[in-house]
Order: sequence, then structure tokens, then C-alpha cells
Amino acid sequence: MTIAVTAASGSLGPLVIDELLARGVRPSQLVAVVRDLGRAEQMAAQGVTVRQGNYDNPPSLVAALEGVSRVLVISGTERGRRVVQHANAIDAARAAGVGLIAYTSVLRAGEATLNPLLEEHVGTERYLEASGVPFVMLRNGFYTENYVPQARRVLASGELLTSAGEGRTASASRRDFAAAAAAVLTTPGHEGQRYELAGGTGWTMHDLAEVIGRIGARQVHVRQVDAPSHLEALLGAGMAQPMAELTVAIDQAVRAGELDTKGGDLERLAGRATTPLEDGLRAAMA
Ligand SMILES: NC(=O)c1ccc[n+]([C@@H]2O[C@H](COP(=O)([O-])OP(=O)(O)OC[C@H]3O[C@@H](n4cnc5c(N)ncnc54)[C@H](OP(=O)(O)O)[C@@H]3O)[C@@H](O)[C@H]2O)c1
Repeated sequence: MTIAVTAASGSLGPLVIDELLARGVRPSQLVAVVRDLGRAEQMAAQGVTVRQGNYDNPPSLVAALEGVSRVLVISGTERGRRVVQHANAIDAARAAGVGLIAYTSVLRAGEATLNPLLEEHVGTERYLEASGVPFVMLRNGFYTENYVPQARRVLASGELLTSAGEGRTASASRRDFAAAAAAVLTTPGHEGQRYELAGGTGWTMHDLAEVIGRIGARQVHVRQVDAPSHLEALLGAGMAQPMAELTVAIDQAVRAGELDTKGGDLERLAGRATTPLEDGLRAAMA
């Protein structure tokens, strides 16, 4: 069996490759699909086959997936273009006769309404469901690593500004999500599943402030505001409009509980507890 990972040269991809190797998959059974071969030297050095494949170039994807039995399609980064790009990867997998497509979607894609990241993941899920290729949805919650820039800002100012109220976020470390993806790619029985993948313990912004304070050894004050005041404050502090709007919209999703889940899918698939917030954030900031 040959397993491919697309968009493999980002932060998640190499961790999935590591987890697959740790599960006993031989390097010769792995294909890392990257848009820039120069960004995959480490994977090539591990003995993994590296092929060029760009989500904007369908023929490159078909060639890259030749002979592949299962593929993890890691979602891309170009917001606004991703449904078409992911559809190109799904079409290429079908053309290459791939037997299973796992896709990194977003937590609670079937029910959430406020998360600003939903639309393209739901669009991709619909396309994948209609493709006729057996699929698995890996509905990933937030990476703990996402909070590093905010933690640095908070440590500089001593204040965590939020409009998320008492909403909880069940983040986990990228490596936890990578372990779940590797489990799905190497064990039977996942076809048609929609896994809600999140950390074992959800945390509030007050919990986050305490953790950041302990990591930076300083007192952190939480300032809860409403959404319009949050946006005004972020813009006033010099944050670019799209990022400020995204930040506030995500806080509204958190407030509504859309980034939290207690299902335990991630821990079950990974076969271990997820990395606690403090451990994950401390490691990411080191
Ligand atoms: N769950 C979360 O909290 C969270 C947070 C951020 C992102 N995400 C999503 O999860 C994905 C994986 O996370 P990550 O941490 O690995 O992100 P990342 O480090 O930003 O890596 C993104 C990968 O997508 C590749 N890519 C972008 N456009 C492409 C294209 N047109 N064709 C082929 N590859 C393309 C990039 O290629 P290069 O290496 O050549 O740049 C890179 O390898 C992200 O892309 C995003 O969709 C999730």
C-alpha cells in the first residue's frame, strides 16, 4: 500500500509523515506531494518519495498520485481559492484510482454557523462526498500553536483582549492531529466517517491568560469586550483589517462553543491523551 500526503511541506505534513513512519510504514511506501521540491529535502532524506504537485495544476496532481492507494489531502492556505484547489486534488485522486481520501476539514463542519473558516471546508466536504471516492473527514479543531503570536502580544502588554466570553476552545497540538491522520491512513474501518478532532480539555480565555502568564512569568489581565469594540481595538492597535475581522469572527465562534467538542475522537484515534494547552504552547514558544 502506498500512502500520499499532499501539501506535505507545511507544518502539519512532516509531522504526519513522522507519525506514519513511527507506525511502521516504510519510507518507500510514502509519497510526499509538495508544490516546491526544494521544501522537501528533509523528507527526501528520510527516504520518502517526493513528487511535485500544485493544487492549481491538475495534471501535476494526477501524476503525483499515480500508484497511490490512500491520500491525505491537507487543506491549502489560499482563502477564497481552496474549494477549487481541493476539488482539483480530489479529481486527481479519482483519476489515479486512489482508494481512500482523507481530508483535513474543520471542527463541526456539519453544524457550526459562525466559524469564518467553515465555508471552504464545507464546500470541499460536499465535493468529496459527491466524488464517489471513499472518504474520511478529519474535522480538525484549532492547533495550540496558533496562539503563539497572541501569547507574545499578551506578554508584551499584560492584557488579553477578547470577545469570546466564557466560550471554550478544545485545541490540541499539531502532532496530535498528525497522529490521528496517520491512524486513519494505516488502519481499516474509517470510510465514510466524519471525525470531530479536538483536544481532550476545552479552555476559556481566562485559562489561556493564566497559561500565558505562567509561561512568561507575568500577570495577565483579561479584558472582555463586545465584538464591535474588539474590532475597533484591534484596528487601533495596527492590526490589518482582514486579520482583525477574522480574529473577532473566530471569537464569536468560540463564544458560541463551535471550537469545543467532547466527543473524544482525537484521543481515540491518536491512542493517547492530547497535549495539554500549557505543554503545547510552552513547546511552541520555546
Ligand atoms: N486547525 C488549525 O488550527 C489550522 C490552522 C492553520 C491552518 N490550518 C489548515 O491546515 C492546513 C495545514 O496546516 P499547516 O500548519 O501545515 O499549514 P502551513 O504550515 O501553512 O502549510 C500549508 C501547506 O499548504 C501548501 N500549499 C498552499 N497552497 C498550495 C498549492 N496551491 N498547492 C499545493 N500546496 C499548497 C503549502 O505549500 P508550501 O510549503 O510550498 O508553502 C504548505 O505546505 C493549512 O494549510 C490550513 O488549511 C488549520
